[in-house]
Amino acid sequence: MTDVVQTSSSWLALREPEDARSRSMQLALAAATRLGDPPIVVHDLGSGTGSMMRWLAPLLPGPQTWVLHDWNASLVASARDERMPVDRDGRPLSVRTSVGELEHVDGDDLRGASLVTASALLDVLTSEEVHAIAAASVAAGAPVLLSLSVTGRVDLIPRHPLDEAFQNAFNAHQRRSADGRRLLGPHAVAVVRGLFLEAGWHVRPVETPWRLGPHDARLLAEWFDGWTDAALEQSPHLHDDASDYLDLRRAQLTDGALSAVVHHRDLLAWSR
Ligand SMILES: C[S@@+](CC[C@H](N)C(=O)[O-])C[C@H]1O[C@@H](n2cnc3c(N)ncnc32)[C@H](O)[C@@H]1O
Repeated sequence: MTDVVQTSSSWLALREPEDARSRSMQLALAAATRLGDPPIVVHDLGSGTGSMMRWLAPLLPGPQTWVLHDWNASLVASARDERMPVDRDGRPLSVRTSVGELEHVDGDDLRGASLVTASALLDVLTSEEVHAIAAASVAAGAPVLLSLSVTGRVDLIPRHPLDEAFQNAFNAHQRRSADGRRLLGPHAVAVVRGLFLEAGWHVRPVETPWRLGPHDARLLAEWFDGWTDAALEQSPHLHDDASDYLDLRRAQLTDGALSAVVHHRDLLAWSR
């Protein structure tokens, strides 16, 4: 893809605490037992500002080097301005960055990896990009921890008859075409699972939903705005019924009377 889809650092910062609560600790600890001998080298694909590194590095042995891959140079550059984590034994990390499109990642880029990881990435990729990542990871032979891929299911509480129409429109928006190629959206996690199984790898999935409510009202409100804006862009006919629905939901947000479960899945894959 030639266009860099802009992800804002403020959105990544807002979601970081809920991402940290939601990711599967069980899979992270299972990954930690399959790293091979130190020094540990972790490749974080679509790293953004390094949220996965801040969560995962303290769970893994050291010494650790992280390689942050992203096509957005300013996001990866700002990883160094954030709090730097330490490894499980309290040692500082060494960090490298690699700016480029994941569609071109190959086994050479990941050679020597102890672990390949990504968080909140798969559902924004095309089939070509997901195939490239799986093939490069299989060539590298390191375990792969893919966190927080959206599954397409959202449960708003209290329920409303229009929720499903918004959910379907949002999911269709996630599968829109970009530069003539279709994003995988909620199908991505099943596609990548199939690719690792085809390669003869073990795959273990775990459900890792966001549970949003009045305790993180700003994240809930921003997530809800993004969800409904995308749905309305995808299916403009929803505008006919949307204003009552949006008024009601915004009143519920203001009153602390709305919560949402946004379903995600984590996946650990490793060679037999
Ligand atoms: C939703 S953000 C997640 C960032 C980070 N992993 C986190 O959890 O905070 C997705 C990231 O993937 C990057 N990205 C998306 N598509 C990409 C591609 N085809 N090649 C390289 N980076 C990509 C974006 O720039 C963005 O930083």
